[in-house]
Amino acid sequence: MSNREQWSSKTGFILAAAGSAVGLGNIWKFPYIAGENGGAAFLFIYLICILMIGLPILNVEILLGRTTQKNPVGAFKALHGDSHWKYVGGLGVLASFTILSFYSIVGGWSVAYTFEALRGTFHSFETPQVAAEFFNLKNSNPAWVVGYHTIFFAMIVVIILSGIKAGIEKASKFLMPVLFIILMVLVFQGLMLPDSDKGMSFLFNPDWSKINAKTFLLALGHAFFTLSLGMGAMMTYGSYLSDKDDVVNASYLVAFLDTLIAILAGVAIFTVVFSSGYDPTAGPGLVFHVLPPLLAQLPGGYIFALLFFLLLTIAAVTSAISILEVSVAYLVDEMRYSRKKATLIMGALVYFAAIPCALSFNVLQDVTILVQGKAFTFFDTADYLASNILLPLGGFFIAIFAGYVWGVDEVVKNLLKGNSESVYFGNTILESSSSKKVFGLLIRYLSPILIFLVFLYQFGWI
Ligand code: TRP
Repeated sequence: MSNREQWSSKTGFILAAAGSAVGLGNIWKFPYIAGENGGAAFLFIYLICILMIGLPILNVEILLGRTTQKNPVGAFKALHGDSHWKYVGGLGVLASFTILSFYSIVGGWSVAYTFEALRGTFHSFETPQVAAEFFNLKNSNPAWVVGYHTIFFAMIVVIILSGIKAGIEKASKFLMPVLFIILMVLVFQGLMLPDSDKGMSFLFNPDWSKINAKTFLLALGHAFFTLSLGMGAMMTYGSYLSDKDDVVNASYLVAFLDTLIAILAGVAIFTVVFSSGYDPTAGPGLVFHVLPPLLAQLPGGYIFALLFFLLLTIAAVTSAISILEVSVAYLVDEMRYSRKKATLIMGALVYFAAIPCALSFNVLQDVTILVQGKAFTFFDTADYLASNILLPLGGFFIAIFAGYVWGVDEVVKNLLKGNSESVYFGNTILESSSSKKVFGLLIRYLSPILIFLVFLYQFGWI
């Protein structure tokens, strides 16, 4: 265990963890759900969810990793012996397969569109409809989808193969600042556009009439996905920290950066969409149909379209590595495989597991199962299974484990380790006994109950 790699610096860890958190969820999901669900009013609810549920669980996940110096399966074994709790870690490894198999397809599209932007393809698109036809035509070719999935996946594998310091940390230290700079350029150009205030008001005007119990559940579900919680990704990254590193402060920073970048992405996207007079749509439609022609038509549009897809690719790469790392760390710790062998084996398994998702847009498009009355392809099913079932389930059990099995006292005692000389906001709060009570209430009652409600809601049971 002593030769287990560690981050070379706390900044390295924070950038890697922020890289995991900042992903497709921030760029195509958050802006849209915020705009649709009451703008600033949603933002307010979302921030409450991040603070009250997201942050405590983020702390717990990173702490479980730091304390045990293990992958999720090993972490539960280290703290609770060879009990059923190790299956919660196992759930994380399973989720890592499931998420990556659709995430890598979208990552592949981002790479493909970066090349298309380079070629100037988007200039010939007059409307989002034309862009949508192009998207569908490209996706009807299995070799195209599988090919770009392969390129995207190869990038992930190369980074993971290089290890924690020379791979994940180095990539994050380079890519995250680049991502931020690109985003700032896009934000400023967006704000300069005529009618940019329409986009700003879609995103920021509080509409309290849109807020109800479901908004709360939606915000919580997203808080979970966007902070990479519920499957041990943050646990695995935390396992490369030492006891000297401050978990509380790192968690604040990661949550802050993630939220900031989601809001900035909203500004960058909606200023462009509204100044062109279009209606926003969600998901692939927004990013791959609506934005390419709108960006390309701007003055200097060639460069903005290119920057946007580069941004999307970077966001996807740094998130995808955190997902694959969970399974690789599992093989390294539990099966004693070398990093190289673990990466190649897991990489190959996940790569092939993703192929049915790649074929969901062409040869396998008619192979569907019915989920809540809708026909789901492999791609849709993987997304649904991970986001709506595996992650909330994992988060629920992590909260229960921390609150009842490991215990609030132990959690707080361990959290304070490595923080002794610091005077950060979070630690000062934790040191007082009343705040320990608050933390206990959040992790023992509020988190599990709310996660459970999200779960029921996503099943359509409430
Ligand atoms: N947080 C990333 C996003 O917003 C996705 C992600 C990366 C993730 N790692 C994860 C989600 C682990 C859940 C669990 O796109």
